[in-house]
Amino acid sequence: MTEIEVRDFEPGDRGAVRHICYLTGYMGAPVDWYWRDEESFADMFCGYYTDREPESTLVAVTNGEVKGYLLGCRDSSRAWDPGAVAARHVLRRGIAFRPGTAGIIWRSIADIVVDTARRRVDPRRYSFSDPDYPAHLHMNLLPELRGTGTGGVLMRRWLDRLRSESVRGCHLQTKAENTNAIGFFEAMGFARHRDPVLAPGERTPDGERTYIQTMVQLLPGS
Ligand SMILES: CC(C)(COP(=O)(O)OP(=O)(O)OC[C@H]1O[C@@H](n2cnc3c(N)ncnc32)[C@H](O)[C@@H]1OP(=O)(O)O)[C@@H](O)C(=O)NCCC(=O)NCCS
Repeated sequence: MTEIEVRDFEPGDRGAVRHICYLTGYMGAPVDWYWRDEESFADMFCGYYTDREPESTLVAVTNGEVKGYLLGCRDSSRAWDPGAVAARHVLRRGIAFRPGTAGIIWRSIADIVVDTARRRVDPRRYSFSDPDYPAHLHMNLLPELRGTGTGGVLMRRWLDRLRSESVRGCHLQTKAENTNAIGFFEAMGFARHRDPVLAPGERTPDGERTYIQTMVQLLPGS
């Protein structure tokens, strides 16, 4: 088995991290079938972490190539809202008017209007904010690294860092349908927090609605 190194993010890792995000963003699978613009997708989900808080990003490397990451944020009030980043790209890259991204953008707006009007979603639940869990994370590994213990190494290193900085707790959000990730996060000490919320705009390949599950972990000793 090739050796897997987990280390701090370096500026030269930025392109690889962004590309892995695009290759794994749909529950570990590529997102190009519903979001055909890598630049805007990577900005929404990696931009803040690699460009504003790189000291909280960890990467997993084999044979000198980045194959996975954990993107961390110690104070979630500082992170960029992906919706606001998408709105910037409507102006910069015209993503609301281009095939490959227009569909999900307009569907998201329609879902938010209809779901809140029909009281399917309390609009306050579109974003998570709780002083008990100020930190959050995203993580993705390319398929060849999954099930190798790498996710566990990344996560333990991140949680140890939060404890050493006396951060009280950490949260994350994943698709409720991503049962593998939820099993992993539970094994890492996270618990489901409240009921899942309908995800605006997103659909499965069969056209079904998807849900967002928030998970939390207090960090005793912090
Ligand atoms: C989720 C992911 C990061 C986990 O990393 P991984 O390297 O596959 O997980 P590991 O092999 O390190 O597993 C760590 C521990 O979690 C446990 N675990 C992993 N998956 C599990 C599951 N589905 N159910 C229960 N436990 C699980 C392992 O048994 C292991 O336990 P141990 O430490 O007691 O041996 C990785 O599989 C991945 O990138 N998946 C695709 C992308 C994704 O879904 N990301 C999350 C989006 S929010």
